[in-house]
Amino acid sequence: MSISWLYPVLVGVHVTAAIVGVGPVFFFHPILTLAGNMGEAMHAHNIVERLNKAANIGFGALLLSGLSLGVTSPSLFQALWFDLSLVLFFISGIYVNTLYKAKMKQLQEIVKQSVESQGGDQELAQQYRVILKQKVPYEWVRILILLTIIVLMVWKPN
Ligand code: HEM
Repeated sequence: MSISWLYPVLVGVHVTAAIVGVGPVFFFHPILTLAGNMGEAMHAHNIVERLNKAANIGFGALLLSGLSLGVTSPSLFQALWFDLSLVLFFISGIYVNTLYKAKMKQLQEIVKQSVESQGGDQELAQQYRVILKQKVPYEWVRILILLTIIVLMVWKPN
């Protein structure tokens, strides 16, 4: 029995997973900047946290469908773009779970402590504003790695 239908189906799953995984990442920082006081910042972090969980499911599906495409068509493992994408994908995972996560945790801690001790109505703490600004380049590194993978996916250099 021919399984020629399998490859395009997997590409469909893969592209859907790319939307679910990568899409939300572009909105994390803009959502956080909407907060006008500490209570709103808490709410913004909860939204980002929810979106991040959905994005992680997308990233898991991206890896699984990407590897399944490789199993269906093993010559892919010899293609530069495929191997480079895999490496970048893992680098991105390590980066997000170490440096990026540490910055996010710093912000979450300030918000939590501040709301617990003084309620949500007070204006954004100076330290919070500073760290939120410091987080911008971390956000760009994450986005640039993802964009590089997308370029590799579409361009497919051998
Ligand atoms: C952030 C991560 C990723 C994103 C956003 C992404 C996105 C995409 C997109 C949009 C396509 C369709 C491109 C086209 O057909 O022109 C694609 C194809 C593909 N991707 Fe990914 N991908 C990612 C990670 C991966 C990884 C880690 C692997 C390998 C394990 C992989 C393997 C593939 C394969 C084999 C194809 C099919 C290429 C073809 O035959 O046309 N992708 N990807």
